[in-house]
Amino acid sequence: MYEKEISKLIALAVGEGLSESEIENLLVPPKDISLGDICMPCFRLAKAFRKNPVAIAEELATKIEKPSFISDIKAVSGYLNFKFSASSSAKLVIEEVLEQKDKYGCSTEGEGKTICIDYSSVNICKPLHMGHLSTTVIGAALYRIHKALGYDVVGINHLGDWGTQFGKMIVAFKLWGDKDKIDANGVKALHEIYVKYHQEAEINPALDDEARAWFKKIEDGDSEAIQLYNWFKEVTLKEVNRVFDRLEVPFDSYNGEAFYNDKMAPVLDRLKDKGLLKESEGAQVVEFEDMPPCLLVKKDGATLYATRDLAAAYYRKATYNFYKCLYVVAYQQNLHFKQFFKVLELAGEPWAKDMHHVSFGMVSLEEGSMSTRSGNVVYLEDVINKAVDKARSIVEEKNPTLANKEEVAEMVGVGSVVFSALVNGRIKDIVFSYDKVLNFEGETCPYVQYTYARCSSLLARAGEDVDFSKGDYSVLDDDNSKELVRALSEYKKAVKESAEKFEPYLVTRSVLNICGLFNKFYFENRILNAPEGVKEARLALTSAVRTVIKNGFGLLGIKVPEKM
Ligand code: ARG
Repeated sequence: MYEKEISKLIALAVGEGLSESEIENLLVPPKDISLGDICMPCFRLAKAFRKNPVAIAEELATKIEKPSFISDIKAVSGYLNFKFSASSSAKLVIEEVLEQKDKYGCSTEGEGKTICIDYSSVNICKPLHMGHLSTTVIGAALYRIHKALGYDVVGINHLGDWGTQFGKMIVAFKLWGDKDKIDANGVKALHEIYVKYHQEAEINPALDDEARAWFKKIEDGDSEAIQLYNWFKEVTLKEVNRVFDRLEVPFDSYNGEAFYNDKMAPVLDRLKDKGLLKESEGAQVVEFEDMPPCLLVKKDGATLYATRDLAAAYYRKATYNFYKCLYVVAYQQNLHFKQFFKVLELAGEPWAKDMHHVSFGMVSLEEGSMSTRSGNVVYLEDVINKAVDKARSIVEEKNPTLANKEEVAEMVGVGSVVFSALVNGRIKDIVFSYDKVLNFEGETCPYVQYTYARCSSLLARAGEDVDFSKGDYSVLDDDNSKELVRALSEYKKAVKESAEKFEPYLVTRSVLNICGLFNKFYFENRILNAPEGVKEARLALTSAVRTVIKNGFGLLGIKVPEKM
């Protein structure tokens, strides 16, 4: 807020030697809000001005003429602090939010640039499990955040739909498969026979020969093999899409590993031409100085995960001409991405630097919070259902007369699961606990949703004809209100920074901070029965808070209820 205006004032006072934009980059919020709203550390100026920072700050403080939006300029140990007059800064921020509504936090900085985001990237015939939570919701949040910043975004579900396991699936289906059961139970039924296959193949290795033969048939386009393969794919996608719909996760492309079958040869040729592809014990690899080699073609001619990722990268560059290409994949695959990005760099592709592995930590369930079925797999859908069930009973208990209880339970339950993966830096491991995520107090999803409902109900009680323009913003000059206004203005920075760092939790934190400050404001101030002018100012602030909570949670993919 006022960064531009203040930079101009300082530049004028400094004279030659420091440009407005250089000054703007130096401006930061002071550690303590009682010192001011924005400050410039003068340490970097010391050399150029041959004075100590304390003296520079003091000199500037006397030199700068105070415009009306500033109430105080103070030099404190080498920092030049500016205090905004409450009335003008609050007015500026609140009016901006109220005017821009659902566009507040959006910008056009990404216009003309395309971001590819590879996330969720499920495997056919395998369940969508708890391990997919982070990739799915971090990917979807980054998708929405980039869209809000004006980028064109391509959401890609790079399906794991190729490999010898599909030969095994056909053998398993022919031996123990029951079409009706699979149609009814979906991936659970597919996965069951896949697990059985592995048990049986231990005793009877001949099964693996059969599986290889069926996989060869898929490769050769045999109609029965292809039909089964496509059906497995259909069953899996129908099921995962049900979860994606519920989480409102967007995808623009489902081009998976199989899509690159005919796109690897030219890439391998290219690497060969550049002298990068080396033969090693019959296989073809790219070697590095500081990492194990990247295996691209096996002795038997089979290609690998990395070969497909390379082909996909070239395809994405050619098709979308991306500005950045993100891969939201767990840190277990760090080495894979390091190797594959390095191959592109060694191949001299200038866009190798635009590839980013957005890695994240592991999720585990707090002991006793869920019994695992079929081995150790915890289905994401089961977790969501259980969270919604629990949310339903909480809502029932807290507000039995609520009209749309079911809808609210869904918002709270689904939201809490999503929130659990977006509340901390992504590299942090998560221990998921139903009780923790569904707690109405503390830094939780229901807490934010409840705060939103509180704002809504306050505004509803005030009625539609409140005239915000009557607001006397000078009443918002206590530290908490000022901090709340500042938090609203910093929300925009949080959105921008979350895109730069691929960290949606910066948006979550910004919203949580706003909620904390708002609730304090709510308990400390009369609002509806405050005198004229005061009431309107406080309601306008409430309305701005409500908008920012909704926008922020919207970016994260979490809905907010009007009542709860
Ligand atoms: N299907 C892979 C897995 O489950 C993740 C794919 C990630 N995306 C990629 N382009 N490699 O491990």
